[in-house]
Order: sequence, then C-alpha cells, then structure tokens
Amino acid sequence: MEIRLAHAQDIDAWMALVKQVRSMFPGLETAEALAEHKATVLRFIQNSSAVCAVEADRIWGILLFSRETAELCFLAVDPTRRRQHIAQKLVSFMLMQTKQGTDITVTTYRDGDPAGLAARAFYKSLGFSEGKLAEEFGCPVQEFILKRPSTGQI
Ligand SMILES: CC(C)(COP(=O)(O)OP(=O)(O)OC[C@H]1O[C@@H](n2cnc3c(N)ncnc32)[C@H](O)[C@@H]1OP(=O)(O)O)[C@@H](O)C(=O)NCCC(=O)NCCS
Repeated sequence: MEIRLAHAQDIDAWMALVKQVRSMFPGLETAEALAEHKATVLRFIQNSSAVCAVEADRIWGILLFSRETAELCFLAVDPTRRRQHIAQKLVSFMLMQTKQGTDITVTTYRDGDPAGLAARAFYKSLGFSEGKLAEEFGCPVQEFILKRPSTGQI
C-alpha cells in the first residue's frame, strides 16, 4: 500500500471511493453536490493537499487537508479495507506535511450518533480530544483537536 499525494489523473478512482461512502457525509446527497465536491478535490490536488492510499491501481483511502488552517477536511477508507490502519497512515502522512507545533482540527459526528462511532473512536485512538459543538450542512457535529508540541511528534 502506497501513501502519496494525489495527482489530477487520480480523480476518477478518487471519486469512485467518494461515491461508495457518500451516505456517510452530509452535503454529498445530490449529483450537483457531488460535481461540486469533485471540483473541490481537484483544487486540493493542485494545492498538494489531497492524500491517497493506493494499491493495485485502486484507491482505498482518501484524505483532504488544509495547509493554511491545519484542518483535516475529509477522510474515508473503503468499507472492505477498514481496520487495517490505512486511515492512520493517511493522517501520519498529513502530519508530516504540516508544521510541528500546529494543532490539527477536524469535525465529525457528535457523541451518540451511530454514524460517528468509527470516526470518533479513530480520532481518539490518535490522541485527538473533544472540542466545541457545531453544525455543518445542518448536521450537528463536534470538533476534535490534536495538540502537537513544537518539538516532538505525536
Ligand atoms: C473512520 C475511518 C476513516 C477509519 O479508517 P480505518 O482505516 O478503518 O482506521 P484504522 O484502521 O487506521 O484505525 C486505527 C485505530 O482507530 C480505532 N478505530 C478505527 N475504527 C474503529 C471502529 N469502527 N471501532 C472502534 N475503534 C476504531 C482503533 O483503535 C484502530 O486501531 P486498531 O484497529 O489497531 O484497534 C473509516 O471507518 C471510515 O472511512 N469511515 C466512514 C467515513 C468517516 O466516518 N470518515 C470520517 C468522518 S470525519
């Protein structure tokens, strides 16, 4: 499994995985929203801020992040390849691309929402702690924060 920055030519394989997991993400319900998301992914790719896990010409895991705000914007792993530490490797790759000492934030489903079970357990396992409650696309969410000391690694 190779973890690397995505290129423009990865977009079809990337979107194939997005389509598989779209029901997990508020804001990806319609064809129009999906087309908008594709344009967003291409912008992240141009900014060297789209990371993918590739094996046998297929993309099994995807991650978008912001270099400006140190935010993890999107993360998903193919349902058939979960619990193989693919997401962990994607986040480690992102951490290497962001400045040490910068806290990383992400928003995910709130406690008690079955849709957030895997993601919340995942972020906690990496040392993220719970932050403020918010809403995204009308969906109740919670921020998670990874505090990073300026000298060490997580
Ligand atoms: C959340 C998600 C990205 C995790 O991907 P993954 O590759 O399966 O995660 P990893 O294998 O790297 O997990 C690392 C650790 O996180 C924890 N973890 C991950 N999934 C878990 C689950 N379903 N239940 C409990 N703990 C879990 C475990 O501690 C795991 O380590 P272990 O398997 O050695 O016990 C994946 O479940 C997914 O794509 N979910 C749907 C989309 C989603 O929720 N995205 C995040 C929204 S912000």
